[in-house]
Amino acid sequence: MEKLLLTVCLAMVHCAVFADQKAVKLRTEQDIIAHVAKMTLEEKVGQMTELVIDVIGHWEKGNFVLDNDKLERALIKYKVGSILNAPGPVAQTPEYWYKTISTINEYSIRGCGIPCVYGLDQNHGTTYTLGGTLFPQNINLGASFNPELALKAATITAYETRASNCPWTYSPTVDLSRDPRWPRVWENFGEDCLVNAVMGKTMIEGFQGKEKNIDRYHIGTSVKHFMAYGIARTGKDRTPSYLPEFELREKHFAPFKACVEAGATSVMVNSGSVNGIPMHINAKYLTQWLKEETGWDGMLVTDWADIDNLWKREMVAANKKDAICMAINAGIDMTMEPYDLSFCDLLVELVREGRVSMERIDDAVRRVLRMKMRMGLFEQPDTNPKDYPEFGSAAHRKAALDAAVETMVLLKNQNNTLPLQQGKNILVTGPNANSMRCLNGGWSYTWQGKDADKNASDKNTILEAMQQRFGKDNIIYEAGVTYNNDGQYWEENEPEIAKAVAAALKADIILACVGENSYTETPGNLDNLALSANQRQLVKELAATGKPIILIINGGRPRLISDIEPLVSAVVDILLPGNEGGDALARLLAGDENFSGRMPYTYPRHSASLTTYDYRVSEETGIMEGVYDYNAQVNVQWPFGYGLSYTTFAYSNLRVDKSEFRNGDILTVNVDVKNTGNRIGKESVLLFSRDMVASIVPESRRLRAFQKIELKPGQQQTVTFRLPASDLAFVGIDGKWHLEPGAFKLQIGNQHCTVTCLAS
Ligand code: BGC
Repeated sequence: MEKLLLTVCLAMVHCAVFADQKAVKLRTEQDIIAHVAKMTLEEKVGQMTELVIDVIGHWEKGNFVLDNDKLERALIKYKVGSILNAPGPVAQTPEYWYKTISTINEYSIRGCGIPCVYGLDQNHGTTYTLGGTLFPQNINLGASFNPELALKAATITAYETRASNCPWTYSPTVDLSRDPRWPRVWENFGEDCLVNAVMGKTMIEGFQGKEKNIDRYHIGTSVKHFMAYGIARTGKDRTPSYLPEFELREKHFAPFKACVEAGATSVMVNSGSVNGIPMHINAKYLTQWLKEETGWDGMLVTDWADIDNLWKREMVAANKKDAICMAINAGIDMTMEPYDLSFCDLLVELVREGRVSMERIDDAVRRVLRMKMRMGLFEQPDTNPKDYPEFGSAAHRKAALDAAVETMVLLKNQNNTLPLQQGKNILVTGPNANSMRCLNGGWSYTWQGKDADKNASDKNTILEAMQQRFGKDNIIYEAGVTYNNDGQYWEENEPEIAKAVAAALKADIILACVGENSYTETPGNLDNLALSANQRQLVKELAATGKPIILIINGGRPRLISDIEPLVSAVVDILLPGNEGGDALARLLAGDENFSGRMPYTYPRHSASLTTYDYRVSEETGIMEGVYDYNAQVNVQWPFGYGLSYTTFAYSNLRVDKSEFRNGDILTVNVDVKNTGNRIGKESVLLFSRDMVASIVPESRRLRAFQKIELKPGQQQTVTFRLPASDLAFVGIDGKWHLEPGAFKLQIGNQHCTVTCLAS
């Protein structure tokens, strides 16, 4: 009898827990408020939880399959609101994604009536979908100084991501790449905050579309990683940053502000600490600055396991429960757990104990549901690949090729070594010459990008593209140095430099392709900023043959090459141009296309002289009277904004409509730009300013605006910038913006003028 009763009870519990829910339809803010008021605490906490897909399935004969019991536990018992990542994490077909995510949605709706929001790092195209389009990485888009390319790349990526039934990406990344040692330099648009802000908000428009409610060809975004992630004191990933708050607000906050004002659906938080406090518990920055000051109603998600990191790595909490309490109270709305459901139980306890208020929980859940509503998930939880015929199309591939062409930077071209003449014998050498992995970098088919050669076998490496463009008979290939693709990203095989030197003797010219193998995040940490010793030795021994060398730099951050740069005739930095990078480079080298990329970061010359273009003026002029003169000149390999073309541009007649101005005015700045060479070319016109005297040490220069134009030979154009005077202000030590009276220098190309701010 007792046994029977127990069985009946268990069956009732099962029914109570697993009874199917009706699909919820939330169409307005009122619907959201009303629905949250009806939800149980467990349902609410479930919506605040994100798990990695590995938790709800297992591997069978090399394939990842969803597992019924695990799905029931996560999505029906715990009502988890979000799943992320590719299993493995390796790319899958659109059909696989469709089946997988629609099954997850089915369970989620059965669990609490609310579809899941699935998220993928589609960081430079469809990272995690096979057959999709891979664009240049963001660092390249930064080098293009052309927001239209970012718009197109994001629009196509959104379309192809919806073709995979995925509505959400952890992109764009707008950390500033201000430390060349950092392994995530290439995920951003470079070192400048304006470039990151403009590219970031343009990408939001491309991903999400123009409307607040996102249609089924667009996706939600998660701007990352809020904030000051990229300037760790150690130069290593996920380690502490220390910086004055005025710089935090003026530079690091700026691109996030621009993105949330552009309607970003969510923001992901910096894994590290800033000035001693882990960002995940910093209520001032998460809630005050990001949410309250801007009025942003989007959703804040943690980065990977970052609540656990609060007590396991950062040691600011004694246990997981305290860590959850601190993070949720600071403003976190969803936690990327990603393995552990104890988050749900502990957060329920925290609310019951009064340590986290129901108001905070309701606010977080409303933010999650609002995001799901804007993504259209309540109306149509799934999108089917058959409705996306342009997935991986030739037109998308062409867009990636055009983007790659505009992002490569010509840094040196002695005696017009380039364009290359047809019919010459070219030795193609170096570890980056025949590798799709190197062209793409990380976040390419797999997290570390290791399988790109297998997955992009239909695309051309530099070697293959050179063979196609210049004729197989004219190309000799001898790598000289190769990466050990089974080892750590920096590992190289025993070099065979003598073979490359022997091959060079048969060639007229050498294309030496050097740089880095792919890496992502912490595995890309670095001990030595110099290019590898083997690769530099290769270039030195090749130079000894007397044959001219074109150096192709292909990597995610600037590796020092000051000892080999003088030995080569030409240098092209292709950064990480993606799947079409080989073809783009061959076309540029042949002169079919013209170079127009500019350095998105300062390329250092020496390991102990690391700086950014907007250094403070006193870093430069080091005269100490009466002791001895010392020279603290900033000495870099190539400055931010530097880049050559096959044509030349002359700047003249810089003029401003007002020589004196007050706060609130708009300055109209004009400059004439003329193509004085004999080839069509694109030019990035960069407007810099310098505050001549200020109450905190002013910066050498600040980029205030940029425009990319195209001019035919002999053509002249007047470029106009409308510059609000407030753009010349800086944040003082009081944390407020100041536009101080006095002189400002404006500079475009070689043109300068001075304007004066009057006391208001
Ligand atoms: C990275 C994020 C990424 C997340 C999800 C983390 O390790 O820092 O950039 O979006 O994983 O894959």
